[in-house]
Amino acid sequence: MKVESSVLFLASSVAATRSAKRGLVHIPNSNWPQDNNIWIQSGSDITWYYNYGQAPSSQYTSVPQSQLEFVPQKWGQSSNPSDTSFSTYVKQLISGGRAIKNVLAYNEPEYPYSSGGAQLSPNTAAIGWIADFVPLQKQGVRIGLPAVNGDDYGLQWLAQFLGNCTQMVKQSNTATSCPYDFLPIHWYNNFQGLQTLLNNVNSQFHPPKIWLTEFTDPNVDLATTQQFYNQAIPYLDGLSNLERYSWFGAFRSNVSNVGPNATFLNRAGKLTDIGSFYLGGGATGVLPTSG
Ligand SMILES: *[C@@H]1O[C@H](CO)[C@@H](O)[C@H](O)[C@H]1NC(C)=O
Ligand SMILES: *[C@@H]1O[C@H](CO)[C@@H](O)[C@H](O)[C@H]1NC(C)=O
Ligand SMILES: *[C@@H]1O[C@H](CO)[C@@H](O)[C@H](O)[C@H]1NC(C)=O
Repeated sequence: MKVESSVLFLASSVAATRSAKRGLVHIPNSNWPQDNNIWIQSGSDITWYYNYGQAPSSQYTSVPQSQLEFVPQKWGQSSNPSDTSFSTYVKQLISGGRAIKNVLAYNEPEYPYSSGGAQLSPNTAAIGWIADFVPLQKQGVRIGLPAVNGDDYGLQWLAQFLGNCTQMVKQSNTATSCPYDFLPIHWYNNFQGLQTLLNNVNSQFHPPKIWLTEFTDPNVDLATTQQFYNQAIPYLDGLSNLERYSWFGAFRSNVSNVGPNATFLNRAGKLTDIGSFYLGGGATGVLPTSG
């Protein structure tokens, strides 16, 4: 295990970083309700979360918004493209006392339902987004673009979405370009690719801010995963227009769809090194595949 112990050493040398950018992709598992408490344990560095839905996670409804900011997401769209049920719901959350500051739009709309995507054409998504997000922005909520994957296909979808949205807002004389506050993006590959992606996103779209709302280097060995973590986290923390990030892996290794080594918890629900680092703690030495 020589290789792994040197990895653990390397990893612990950056372990103590904390960051206001760090958030949680909350994927509750009803088999292990106790896991929900790990992310909000005392000293946790996580300050915000989303769960792919419009309602706060039932496990966190009593946690104040000021301690753990919930970011609602409109995952997909009903058959009525002008449906405004999401903005109606978010306004209710606000009037009920939960100070919603940011919202997320469609999850991977460029992919079909069968691949976990919201399956929307850029044109349909633009109609829905103008109907259901722009009114929230007028009320002071910051609105994120649809969250595509950071590959060529996703960026092409996003460019077409912005093309449609810009045309529509110009026609209605409300703006000269598609109004949005931040650009969410997903990344599942190596560190070099992540750097290239963020450079490309900046030069192609000039977004005010970027949020990396799902990312990891999936299905690789533990040493490579930890190296990715150690390179990606300081890089993201140092980028001034990268406002927030949320690693995809807040679950146990044996229910993972990104391979076991990217996960924050081992089979028994103990924090792995990466899981502990992400919460602001030190190395645990817990192998993701153990337990
Ligand atoms: C609008 O989206 C459609 C696909 O839904 C695409 O074919 C078209 O090129 C887009 N328009 C602009 C101006 O980008
Ligand atoms: C996870 O990491 C272990 C140790 O490095 C390795 O043996 C295993 O193949 C990795 N799993 C995957 C899916 O890459
Ligand atoms: C995951 O591991 C736990 C603990 O060993 C076990 O109880 C559970 O059945 C496993 N789940 C799956 C989907 O393999």
